Amino acid sequence: MYFKETYFYNFRNIQPERREWPVGLNLITGPNGAGKTNFLEGLNLISGWGPLEKSTVISDIIRWNGMDRGDRASLWGRVSGEEDSEIFASVTVRCSLKFDGKSSAASAVRSRIPVLSWLSGSISLIKGGASHRRALLDRVGALISPSYAGRLHDYRYFLRQKTALLRKSRDAAIMERSMLRVGAWLWTAREEILRMIAESIDEFEELLPRPVSLTFKRGGAGMDEKPLDDFKKSLSFSRDREKAAKIPLVGPQRDDIGIFCGPKEASVMLSRGQSSRVASALILASALVVERVLGRKPVLVFDEMASELDADGKLSTIEALGKTGCQIFAAATDPIFSDGVKLHNLRDGRFVRE
Ligand SMILES: Nc1ncnc2c1ncn2[C@@H]1O[C@H](COP(=O)(O)OP(=O)(O)O)[C@@H](O)[C@H]1O
Ligand SMILES: [Mg+2]
Repeated sequence: MYFKETYFYNFRNIQPERREWPVGLNLITGPNGAGKTNFLEGLNLISGWGPLEKSTVISDIIRWNGMDRGDRASLWGRVSGEEDSEIFASVTVRCSLKFDGKSSAASAVRSRIPVLSWLSGSISLIKGGASHRRALLDRVGALISPSYAGRLHDYRYFLRQKTALLRKSRDAAIMERSMLRVGAWLWTAREEILRMIAESIDEFEELLPRPVSLTFKRGGAGMDEKPLDDFKKSLSFSRDREKAAKIPLVGPQRDDIGIFCGPKEASVMLSRGQSSRVASALILASALVVERVLGRKPVLVFDEMASELDADGKLSTIEALGKTGCQIFAAATDPIFSDGVKLHNLRDGRFVRE
């Protein structure tokens, strides 16, 4: 799928303008504060992913001193590719979505217009904490499996309850019974997603300084091959430590992906520029997984794409992005001049000519 046209009204600092978009790499450039991240957030909103930051208050999404007296932001997009459709998001105190004129749940929109966005600087996938790597698995999971997001939501609810019990030094066994099945389900799903990503990553070998291997690390576990038995055994093994620490130490909330270059961890082995390339390869491999499972090409969204890359790194990344045939939106302060790149210059929320 790809966005053929967009129109955002009363949304952050973006000026209302109907704008057409080609397939391929659309690089949005402009100085700090131009509205690059805001524009990418708009794409995230109309594709069912909500605001970029969980902490965002809706009143900040609506344009301050908005033209409609600031009571509503409207985002519209026309998509094409595997299907021609229109999507409309209306943001008031909440965000509601319409797909071809019919009210739609965010999860339904996500699988119709799959958008895979990576907004925190892709290098965090290699050099950052485990939460960044779990986020990649969760994004792919939410796109390719209708029940993934719901189960993750349930698991997190049980986890909060268990944490509250542990803090009060109360017995958490009731919560554990509810957590076991959904936790083991998440492990199985995440392992399968990572297996598919690992199968696809070699297709982007021009981005890999060395062959990369990926392993799934179950959080605080590893006592049995079978996920459910592993969860049970690891919980009873860690029970006293959990009581002492007053936080849950076993489960998907502590999962990670081991990323190795040869025998060594990629985070130790690779420079920042190399990490950035490997991270791009991981995201592109994830895009292939989404395409294979859903039968539609995802749109890729990157913020601050090229900041860590040298000239050669930029070229190989652009080449790899081009190979996917996906539509890509990326933001960067400086333009990259290359055949594969369509530049869109943004100033104070308005697209201007170079
Ligand atoms: N609701 C809003 N109404 C008007 N301007 C906003 C709103 N929310 C954020 N902004 C402005 O948008 C600008 C930031 O845009 P951003 O997309 O983060 O820039 P960048 O191009 O650096 O990514 C800031 O100057 C901020 O004040
Ligand atoms: Mg930004």
